[in-house]
Amino acid sequence: MDNDYILNKLKKVDMLPTFPGTVGTVMSLIQDPMSSAADLAKNMDPSMVSEVLRIANTAYFGTKNFRNISSIEHAIAIIGLEHLSSIVIQMPFISMVKGDTAFDREKFMEHSIMCGVLSKAISLSVRLGNPNEVYIGGMMHDIGAIIFYRYFRNEWDRAYSLVRDRGMTWPEAEKEVFSMDHGYIGAVLLELWNIPKGITDCVMFHHCPDKATENRGNATAVNLGNRFSKLINIHDDIPNFDDFLGRYRSFLNLNEELGLQLLPSDEIIFYEKIYAVAKETQHYIYGTVREKE
Ligand SMILES: [Fe+2]
Ligand SMILES: [Fe+2]
Repeated sequence: MDNDYILNKLKKVDMLPTFPGTVGTVMSLIQDPMSSAADLAKNMDPSMVSEVLRIANTAYFGTKNFRNISSIEHAIAIIGLEHLSSIVIQMPFISMVKGDTAFDREKFMEHSIMCGVLSKAISLSVRLGNPNEVYIGGMMHDIGAIIFYRYFRNEWDRAYSLVRDRGMTWPEAEKEVFSMDHGYIGAVLLELWNIPKGITDCVMFHHCPDKATENRGNATAVNLGNRFSKLINIHDDIPNFDDFLGRYRSFLNLNEELGLQLLPSDEIIFYEKIYAVAKETQHYIYGTVREKE
């Protein structure tokens, strides 16, 4: 299957949901340091409002047993702009597989949110790329996997058997079948939607950051965030920081991989940050996504 066939098929307007204006607004609000949660409230559509209210009323936000949050402004203030943006950004992609019980939407969202927050934490702690672009890119990094699954099902089945029977990784199997991986196709879709290149490059190169020419820092941060988010299972019990460090420190040689000269004490600070963010995200996802079960 050649590139042109896939790209042409992707461009057929009736195949894809249009990019919701609200998501664009949310992305600019996240990138604008002057923006507030109240700004976001003004731009929400009804399905978004109901999802945000549902989440604000879950156990994690401490509201479930003693009060009912019914005002959207109040809900946004409770959840916070960053968490809120992660919900809103996922919505158009998740809607592509709505009603498909074989696709594990919750798991996909958990992985995407964890990747977004960890990529941003990595970007901030080792000054790699632009943290806001990395956050959004990290949350969208695997959307290409949804596109293959949803719009190229026969080919997806073939790729799946290569993964299952021949032990290939997903990017390898996708290259074999589609002649591109899910990072590439995801970035192509985002480009059709006029998403800035600082974000689309995170998606395109998340499995091969060395191939990025313009935004290699962004792509590297998302590559690391993705690898960590596969490792740090959302349901793992990580009782304390020492335990976390013991499990994950050998996973990554920061200095070698990023060409840094961190002292061991700096490395500990890096892992402390990752630990804090992973823990917070675990609680957040447990309190929201999983509560539906
Ligand atoms: Fe991926
Ligand atoms: Fe991923």
